[in-house]
Amino acid sequence: MTTVRNDALSVALDAGENPYLVGPYAPVDEEIEASDLEVIGEIPADLAGMYVRNGPNPRYRTEGRYHWFDGDGMLHGIHLEDGKATYRNRSVATEGLAADREAGRALWGGVAEPRTANPDDGSRLRLKDTANTDVLFHNGNLVALWYLAGAPYRIDPFSLETVGREDWGGTRQSCVSAHAKVDPRSGEFVYFDYGPTPPYMSYGVVSADGRVTHHTEIDIPGARMPHDMAITENYSIVMDLPLVVDEASARAGRHRLEFLGNTPARFGVIPRHGTAVQWFEAEPCYIYHSINAWEQGDEIVLDVCRFRVPGPPAVEFRGPLASILNYLRLDAYVHRYRFDLKTGRTTEEPLDDRNTEFPMIDSSLVGVRNRYAYNVSINSDTTMYFDGIVKFDLDRRTDERYQFGPGRYGSEAPFAPRVDGTAEDDGYLLSFVYDAAEDRSELVILDAADLGSGPLGRVKLPVRVPNGFHSCWVPAEDLDRARGTEA
Ligand SMILES: [Fe+2]
Repeated sequence: MTTVRNDALSVALDAGENPYLVGPYAPVDEEIEASDLEVIGEIPADLAGMYVRNGPNPRYRTEGRYHWFDGDGMLHGIHLEDGKATYRNRSVATEGLAADREAGRALWGGVAEPRTANPDDGSRLRLKDTANTDVLFHNGNLVALWYLAGAPYRIDPFSLETVGREDWGGTRQSCVSAHAKVDPRSGEFVYFDYGPTPPYMSYGVVSADGRVTHHTEIDIPGARMPHDMAITENYSIVMDLPLVVDEASARAGRHRLEFLGNTPARFGVIPRHGTAVQWFEAEPCYIYHSINAWEQGDEIVLDVCRFRVPGPPAVEFRGPLASILNYLRLDAYVHRYRFDLKTGRTTEEPLDDRNTEFPMIDSSLVGVRNRYAYNVSINSDTTMYFDGIVKFDLDRRTDERYQFGPGRYGSEAPFAPRVDGTAEDDGYLLSFVYDAAEDRSELVILDAADLGSGPLGRVKLPVRVPNGFHSCWVPAEDLDRARGTEA
């Protein structure tokens, strides 16, 4: 194991003060690389590639209240090949983190504090762009994204070192929301951007070789907080949901959202390279994550994890952090929309009644019909944890579940297809799982076709992987292609 200690870490933790800074959420202070890791069971011989996950890891103690979404992005990657594993973690070297390092302290306060004391760096939100939210593989690189729509950061897929802001070969320096989609057929990177001032939303396409080939403004009535989108073979779907930015608060330098319970949710369908948006109305709701979308006759089918009503849970935190902690809960259910492009009609139906989120599918099926989705299940305590994985069969409306076990908390679990696999679920699910009793993490490898039999392999890591956000699986053949391009 080689260890590189980061400079000037000063995150002082006071146990118990904020549940999103302790236990499975406590940040780590080292960047390491570790190989020849202990394996319980086995790493399947045909499982080759890399699982990489992004998430917040605050490098410096911030003034005021810490929100889980504030931490600097850190990537945790585990490379699997020939039954062996190598783990590596690296901070996303954003411009904000560089400024903090130079100052030796946190220059920005978090999203829950007024922005007036933050550096006036010309950014739209006057918040630190941490690139801590999603990570995608496109055009031979990883791309790290931020939930409030920030600069995409290009990451070397082998070292996990940050190359810099992605400007798509100089064709455009656009911000990108938390989630973009990579079309597995065309290789395009399809994105949207949003902000607090007009244009409130824009949309674009980057070609497989990394050039912006399309960019257009989307007309929505005001500042919103959209999070995800979806694509089909020919269309993209963006969301105008009634979780709106309170503009009076924004003018006063505060970030406050308001849910308009009588305002319809709207879904905008736009041809992949088009400008005309066809809007579909639906019941009011909020949605963090789409599962997938596809075309079926005259209809577009969209599956999502849908919030019933954004707001505090039945069991509430009290005290100075209450307003943050109560709203960090996820309360979402698998839900299906159908948008009829001929009639303009929307139909919608719930597909499940359990709280699950962070959906993954076989990424080769993004934009075409899928049968299976792999979500994490959300615990019912005040502090949010992912306590298991639920595999949904969306055709048969059945499911299968794997629980991580007491004191064990997982991560978003992407699907790694078996080479030459035949069935859609012929492959593996991967998740970093933190074990509170050992105070360290492991990679859990499950057979996607048989969750019930438990892990095929558990790769013991020498460190903790703090609970985090989004992830991807990069197959060995894509890494090989990237290495060939690099050479
Ligand atoms: Fe997300």
